[in-house]
Amino acid sequence: MSAAPILSLRGLTVRYPVRQGLARREITALHPTDLDVRLGETLAIVGESGSGKTTLGRAMLRLAQPSGGQILHEGADLMALGAGGLRSLRPRFQMVFQDPYSSLNPSHRIRTVLFDVLAHAGLPKAEREARAISLLADVGLERDALDRLPSAFSGGQRQRIAIARALASDPDLIVADEPISALDVSIQAQVVNLLVDLKRKRGLTLVFISHDLGMVASIADRIAVMYFGEIVELAEARKLATSPAHPYSAMLLASQPKPDVASARATIRAAARLGTVDLPSQLDPPAGCPFQSRCAHALPRCGQEAPKLAADPCGGMAACFNPLTASETSEGARIA
Ligand SMILES: Nc1ncnc2c1ncn2[C@@H]1O[C@H](COP(=O)(O)OP(=O)(O)O)[C@@H](O)[C@H]1O
Ligand SMILES: [Mg+2]
Repeated sequence: MSAAPILSLRGLTVRYPVRQGLARREITALHPTDLDVRLGETLAIVGESGSGKTTLGRAMLRLAQPSGGQILHEGADLMALGAGGLRSLRPRFQMVFQDPYSSLNPSHRIRTVLFDVLAHAGLPKAEREARAISLLADVGLERDALDRLPSAFSGGQRQRIAIARALASDPDLIVADEPISALDVSIQAQVVNLLVDLKRKRGLTLVFISHDLGMVASIADRIAVMYFGEIVELAEARKLATSPAHPYSAMLLASQPKPDVASARATIRAAARLGTVDLPSQLDPPAGCPFQSRCAHALPRCGQEAPKLAADPCGGMAACFNPLTASETSEGARIA
């Protein structure tokens, strides 16, 4: 696989205005982030709810307005583009959203949904019907779907339609934001497999956002773990899933459901811990590492200084002053 980036994020930052009583304040939902999305890879972004995954996914496509930094694509900075320049790049970067019930306009027939994108991409009118039917076939739907409204479809089928819509402009990159978490558990795997298959067939780059580290470990080339608005670990998927360097990644892994009883117990213990610990306030971020209050590995230094993402001893990148070694993570239970 080529290591060339399709997008290079440099210091990308997102702040949101919030009100606290009468005061106007800001939270930093994405701390200055450097990340290369490699051409043709599946890059997973994982983390708990509120960790900034959606903010990062939207910001890299300039769907959320970043407050600073650069988004480099083929030598140009997307942050410097005006509305016209962005519009012409839009077809190449698509997003599949979490909720297939709100992402499709309820009054638009599927024909309209797909034809709009095809028209925008410049496909002649006479070719749109055939292309729409072939897109539906790609996602496992029949041509009679064209004349129906979104309400005629199940959640899984709607997500297939959303995927067809994302593919309609023949994009280079798709950011899929928790595309299965609103779906029935019984059909989640089908939708993931569909995305992965389409990605492979079309040579797409896929950024797959999820809170399920165990699941993405089986589909991703690399995984970025987010905590409190920053990437705290970035590594090859297999490496991260077997020997995570950041104590937070280890905690996420330990909280994954496991089939056998002993590890199910460990899972329940870990989940109980995750549930009882308060996350730090985004309005008053703590000094030092944001994970220190939950970390069994914290050093005195972690209370004073925030660690930056840097090479860890096992070949990945971790934002940690005291990363786990391979032998520590194989013990596993110690952290859970
Ligand atoms: N439009 C917004 N205005 C203010 N705060 C927001 C907005 N969107 C997200 N946030 C806050 O930014 C943080 C990160 O949110 P988000 O990116 O949605 O996380 P995730 O996708 O990991 O659940 C959260 O604290 C969230 O409350
Ligand atoms: Mg989200």
